[in-house]
Amino acid sequence: MQPKSPVIIDLKFDQEQVAAALKGAFADREVINLLHPANRNRDLSGIDYAVVWKPGADLFSRAKDLKVVFSGGAGVDHVLTLPGLPDVPLVRFVDETLTTRMSEWVVMQCLLHLRQHQAYEAQREKRIWRELAQPQAKDFTVGIMGFGVLGQDSARKLKALGFNVIGWSKSGRKVEGFEVFDESGLDAFLGRTDILVGLLPLTPETRGIYNTGLFTRLSRKGPFGAPVFINAGRGGSQVEADIVASLNDGTLHGTSLDVFEQEPLPLESPFWGMDTVFMTPHASAASDVAALFRHVAAQIERLESGEPLEHLVDRSAGY
Ligand code: NDP
Ligand code: OXD
Repeated sequence: MQPKSPVIIDLKFDQEQVAAALKGAFADREVINLLHPANRNRDLSGIDYAVVWKPGADLFSRAKDLKVVFSGGAGVDHVLTLPGLPDVPLVRFVDETLTTRMSEWVVMQCLLHLRQHQAYEAQREKRIWRELAQPQAKDFTVGIMGFGVLGQDSARKLKALGFNVIGWSKSGRKVEGFEVFDESGLDAFLGRTDILVGLLPLTPETRGIYNTGLFTRLSRKGPFGAPVFINAGRGGSQVEADIVASLNDGTLHGTSLDVFEQEPLPLESPFWGMDTVFMTPHASAASDVAALFRHVAAQIERLESGEPLEHLVDRSAGY
């Protein structure tokens, strides 16, 4: 029997978590963790698989024989732009652990805005005891841009809480229980949306898509008059100067951001000091490393037993 190919690991994640997750993972094959100093100059030729998150710039020149590249996250913009990326299948991470985390974050942000949590925090600072208006979830339409794995799961959970939910995707593909608009339906979609949720991948088409021009097309008929913008897709899709200006001039009522044009968010960013902004440090849905290794092992198993790989990225579409 031929020896099984080792797996290269190049994950810019917490290394204690990676080490813990590697115990017991890939039981029947060697693992080469490139972040381990002992592997710095390791010969990587002849190796079939690499699991990567923001990998080293020289990875693909060192590992010349890769047959599959596995992304350590759901997004693949961190891989697609790398020099020397071989023309082999690219598999992204799709897993219930990640999907559930994202939906929890999206639901939490929608509820924070619905229940006017920013206003209560501001009152608390001034020791003001005053009950504010309590519109209901059913009074809001949440429009989700990017109606894929994450968008659809968030949609189902928001709907269960009573929100009206609509979706926008490239294809406008039908999803049972939801009205989904395609690219040509963007105006109609935005005109109905009181809370905009961004769950788009970063591609040339989606770069800078969340800008003043788009915010001004959102509904102003919701309970707060102005719409709310929530983004957990990619920071490259948002124009931060436009978000700041839109919050300051009332085009937007509030925002929740998990992703930023530059990460970590620079100290001079105005977002740090704005009380109309909820933010988290790209932490809405971290990859569970043990689940990631189980997913990679399962896909390798499929490939080696002649079954097709799942969750393949369409390189020409960019996601
Ligand atoms: P999917 O590939 O399942 O869904 C992507 C969705 O975006 C699809 O509905 C797709 O349309 C739509 N889309 C893509 N390009 C366009 C476009 N140009 N115009 C309109 N719609 C478009 O991805 P996931 O749901 O799994 O993940 C989405 C993104 O979330 C990831 O790419 C990643 O960037 C981000 N993410 C962020 C995390 C975080 O921690 N902040 C964690 C995980 C993911 P169609 O259905 O027609 O193909
Ligand atoms: C991802 C992410 O794409 O964590 O999975 O951003």
